[in-house]
Amino acid sequence: MDTDWALAKNQSLADLRLNRMDAEAEGRIYQALRHFWHPVIYSQELTDSPERVWLCGEQLVAVRLDGEAVVLNDMCAHRGTALSLGKVVASDDGEAIQCPYHGWRYAGDGRCVLAPQRPDLAGKLRARVKSHNVVERYGMVWVCLADDPHFPLPEFPQFEDPSYDWVAVPSTSWDHTFAVRRTENYTDPAHLAFVHDGYLGDSRQPAIPEYEVSQTAHNVLQMRLAEPCFEPASAGKNKSIVTESEFLEVMKTWDCFMPLTVLLRVFDTEGNDYCLFFHPTPTSATTIRNFTIGARNFGSASTIFDEIAGWNKIVYEQDEPIVSSQRPEQLPEDLSMEMYLAGVDTFSLRYRKWLLELADELVPADGS
Ligand code: FES
Ligand SMILES: [Fe+2]
Repeated sequence: MDTDWALAKNQSLADLRLNRMDAEAEGRIYQALRHFWHPVIYSQELTDSPERVWLCGEQLVAVRLDGEAVVLNDMCAHRGTALSLGKVVASDDGEAIQCPYHGWRYAGDGRCVLAPQRPDLAGKLRARVKSHNVVERYGMVWVCLADDPHFPLPEFPQFEDPSYDWVAVPSTSWDHTFAVRRTENYTDPAHLAFVHDGYLGDSRQPAIPEYEVSQTAHNVLQMRLAEPCFEPASAGKNKSIVTESEFLEVMKTWDCFMPLTVLLRVFDTEGNDYCLFFHPTPTSATTIRNFTIGARNFGSASTIFDEIAGWNKIVYEQDEPIVSSQRPEQLPEDLSMEMYLAGVDTFSLRYRKWLLELADELVPADGS
């Protein structure tokens, strides 16, 4: 393998510790994320009990009204109380969310339908809260803060294939991570031997297999191993695969639905297919919530929770201190601020370039 370092010109260690985006706190890539779909809660967790969720620094309330997923700004138009502290109430016109302070009621489209102190004004009130674009799919409730999502929802056909079982991995929040760095971590084969030694990789074999990177759709950057790699057969995720070998020979593909969703597939020549459909929702510029649906076409539904959810809990706990320690927290806009190992960091470089193109398109540099 070619191991030349791709060193930036005029780069010094001092430069590496400085980044104007640290001071600015929010970079253009982060602002661009408002134009895409992000899951905010699992479908199975969304009930008629309002839940506070966060997306790109916005405090939102998610709730089910008449069975439909609804996401509103979590701020009553009257005196700014959090609607997530309220409750769902029913009327002849359907369910509404009721503010806990003075009881104003809001329909799913955000209209205030009743101020109980002046019932005579019902239907004439101008008050409303912002209602956001919502789609419920793949066991998750997705929100786009922009009126016109830049890309369609990512695709996860295995979720809808009856030969696969699926499970929602309990979501976890990370307090010091920019979402983009987490997706980059999820698509990074070179860290497996170190961060997941004995779990997903082997520190005795740090070289990675050859892989190819290509754009496979207008919104997908794919990384595909060009040859099989080896995973410890004893790994919890592989418990349902019967083998006498120490290692399983598997192929892997990562479909990155720009800018954040990853569909990772690990499959073998026997037809066993293991999928993780992952999205690190940017709850703010430096915090994320990890959402993952795992699916597989082997093993029993009765063990899928332990073997996928339990397993990934361990794996994610190995990643968190590493990814949360990365500085600057925001991805540098200047690609030469970090280094790229030729033949290894190819995906990372392509991914970053595409992110910057999206930022250029959606968030012009002059801020207009
Ligand atoms: S603050 Fe919500 S009804 Fe008054
Ligand atoms: Fe990892």
